[in-house]
Amino acid sequence: MTCEFHSAGSSNLVPVALATELSPGQRKLVFVGGKSVVLFNVGGTIHAIENSCPHNGASLASGCIDGTVLRCPAHGLRFDLAKYDDDTAGALRLQRFPVREVGGVLILQTDPDDQWSMPGR
Ligand code: FES
Repeated sequence: MTCEFHSAGSSNLVPVALATELSPGQRKLVFVGGKSVVLFNVGGTIHAIENSCPHNGASLASGCIDGTVLRCPAHGLRFDLAKYDDDTAGALRLQRFPVREVGGVLILQTDPDDQWSMPGR
């Protein structure tokens, strides 16, 4: 379930998985640039978030998903993965990373403010 990729040079675009590894409903934990990141395939859309709940840092990798809503296993806060401006958890926001499929490989952008924009914004 886990893997680690090392980016070359100073690029903030990091290959993290083969697209075929993540069918709808599946998730994968990866380590990129010293961060733990969870990839979720929710209905065919890949979401990448830091594996740390903004409430108190619990791992979100084992959180339950109901539709597009991820529930933190620690205290139950809910985050809608499909809503980038989600206010379900008040001011608490997931750390998201843009991810794209390029030639069958999922590429994660480690700096959300650089190059790619988030889908749905
Ligand atoms: S650590 Fe996630 S809800 Fe508290």
